[in-house]
Amino acid sequence: MRQIKPNIYAVGAIDWDRRLFDELIPLPEGTTYNAYVVKGSEKIALLDTVDPTKSDVLMSNLMSLGLGDIDYIVSHHAEQDHSGTIPAMLMLYPNAKVVTNAKCKAMLIDLLHIEEDRFLTITDGQTLSLGDKTLQFFDIPWVHWPETMCTYLQEDRVLFPCDFFGSHLAASSLFVEDEPLVYESAKRYYAEIMMPFRPAIKKNMEKIGKLKIDMIAPSHGPVYDKPEFILDAYRDWVGDAVKNEAVLAYVSMHESTREMVEHLSEALIERGITVRQFNLAVTDLGKLAIALVDAATIVLGSPTVLTGAHPKTAYAALVANALRPKTKFASIIGSFGWAGKMVEQLAGLISNLRVELIEPVIVKGQPKNEDFAALDKLADQILAKHKQIGIA
Ligand code: FEO
Repeated sequence: MRQIKPNIYAVGAIDWDRRLFDELIPLPEGTTYNAYVVKGSEKIALLDTVDPTKSDVLMSNLMSLGLGDIDYIVSHHAEQDHSGTIPAMLMLYPNAKVVTNAKCKAMLIDLLHIEEDRFLTITDGQTLSLGDKTLQFFDIPWVHWPETMCTYLQEDRVLFPCDFFGSHLAASSLFVEDEPLVYESAKRYYAEIMMPFRPAIKKNMEKIGKLKIDMIAPSHGPVYDKPEFILDAYRDWVGDAVKNEAVLAYVSMHESTREMVEHLSEALIERGITVRQFNLAVTDLGKLAIALVDAATIVLGSPTVLTGAHPKTAYAALVANALRPKTKFASIIGSFGWAGKMVEQLAGLISNLRVELIEPVIVKGQPKNEDFAALDKLADQILAKHKQIGIA
């Protein structure tokens, strides 16, 4: 338990060992489930709880604060890593009300079977006085569920945005200390969780941009005591501009696709394009997601397996399609032995991406001189496209 400002305490838990979220997202740096206590002169509020696996840590932190009672449990988001300990809190504090919006209330009833009479339902912009501290609630939908909301503590100018601006980073420092590490973790978090909702994030950034914010206290990762650090990063990530970068995500079984990828990489580098190459047999998908935040072009590489793409390339295409990066151009390269529909399959798997498909290069067997020439032409086309949009 630590104080972030007078009478505002961090009471959440560090999960050093967690390595996977939603049984999907790699967490190389672990994570935290941040919860905060705001102690007013008349009332006390707990903002979010923790993942049920760490409920003992939250309880112990609350006990060490010696609060007596808690009047309000603000729930910004119904996902269980923040809401999962609410039922235990309601047992511990029988007079406490769960403060949330109507959508989140309905989800909490569905997910956690919280009884209806335990809620205090608030609306967008509403305030709740704790005496000398005032909580103001704002709906910030789709960061990253439809019910997400945030709290602005008016007197202290602290924003509690829950998942928004967060990072999966287990660290002992309460505030941002290692900026490059936090930047990387926050960008990974944005790429994996927030990027599919880029238009909604832009709107929410505008909405909270009207507030005077001294501190941002998210529900994962360190607190931002210099809010511009993360606000500037988000402005960059959600902006429409892409960078002169090409992501080459591939798998090779018998070296043909690898030879093609390596040739194309060299050709792009010679043309001044930054290449981010990922061998999908060994890559961390989070790193691929990070690269997709900025890249103008993605090239998928695959051999042909049972008439289609290699399942690892198909999986990467599916993930990219779900993450909806702002990538503008795409192509497909790879090889086949006798026949196949790999190009049609992969192009179909990225149908959510608003990309222009540059003519694929598919070769029979091991690439020959004319195939390498076709890859040089593909590199020329990628450069031309990048020039067209003014990034090369
Ligand atoms: Fe950290 Fe969407 O939960």
